[in-house]
Amino acid sequence: MKENSKEQLNARSTSESGIHTDFTNNMTYSEYLQLDRILSSQNRLSGHHDEMLFIVIHQVSELWMKLIIHELDSAVSSVRSGNLAAAFKMLARVSKIQQQIKESWDVLSTLTPSEYMQFRDKLGQSSGFQSYQYRLIEFMLGYKTPHILTIYKKDPDLHHILLKALHSPGLYDAAIEALSKAGLTIDPDVLNRDFTQPYKPHETVEAAWLEVYRNVERYWDLYELGEKLVDIEDWLQQWRFRHMKTVERIIGFKTGTGGSSGVNYLKKVLDQRFFPELWDLRTKI
Ligand code: HEM
Repeated sequence: MKENSKEQLNARSTSESGIHTDFTNNMTYSEYLQLDRILSSQNRLSGHHDEMLFIVIHQVSELWMKLIIHELDSAVSSVRSGNLAAAFKMLARVSKIQQQIKESWDVLSTLTPSEYMQFRDKLGQSSGFQSYQYRLIEFMLGYKTPHILTIYKKDPDLHHILLKALHSPGLYDAAIEALSKAGLTIDPDVLNRDFTQPYKPHETVEAAWLEVYRNVERYWDLYELGEKLVDIEDWLQQWRFRHMKTVERIIGFKTGTGGSSGVNYLKKVLDQRFFPELWDLRTKI
């Protein structure tokens, strides 16, 4: 009796529910997502059980970074063309992704120092420091570090992508341009700055943001833009902090595989700022 009802259920799930089971001439879920390529890219060099976690966490983070870059690219264009509403949608998505990536440190924290030391030497000198997508995000947000490009000399395609981003205005440059287009005074030296260099805070930019934050009704769009940027920097710093603490938990104060001082380097990176005036104005308002 029980078996019969199981069969009946199975029959219903394939025929009555309309679920497709014959894919002789149709594309499947795996084919569309190219899962054969993605799911065969977890090559554990040590064969150690926990190396799978280490690889998957990095790959998942890189996939999320890919989506962040996709969104930021369009968001910068939208801000530059004055379509702020479209940019807000994309920037809100970026912040949600950042929250997701930050949560992944909780999973990685289950890796103990003894487990990691059993396969760490297999990484050689490779390190997240060489993540070109991470650098691309930094460049798109306006934090430019030209010296980093030497890492990618051996890959002309990557080198070209980063070089282009280095020379292009970042999200903060686009936001400052929007302030100027709204009639707020910005020094022309800032508007025509050398985009290959890291952004340096400027008094006219701070005065313009202060004007926006003191008159939110009048400058609602720019005010919302400012807060979206603060969200992004806030989440990025939270990611950096959790990275630093997770690294301390796993390798203590050992030097990094990329050659840096390790945790001390990661602590120093926390001082880098993307949108300085948007933070400084909070003391003055
Ligand atoms: C056991 C896990 C991890 C350890 C021990 C670790 C360690 C380190 C260390 C020591 C550095 C400084 C550069 C160096 O000397 O290598 C670094 C940089 C970096 N790591 Fe990790 N990391 C881990 C996981 C991850 C994960 C999951 C990601 C995600 C993509 C990641 C992304 C990065 C990035 C982007 C940098 C460059 C940071 C900057 O220069 O601002 N790391 N990591």
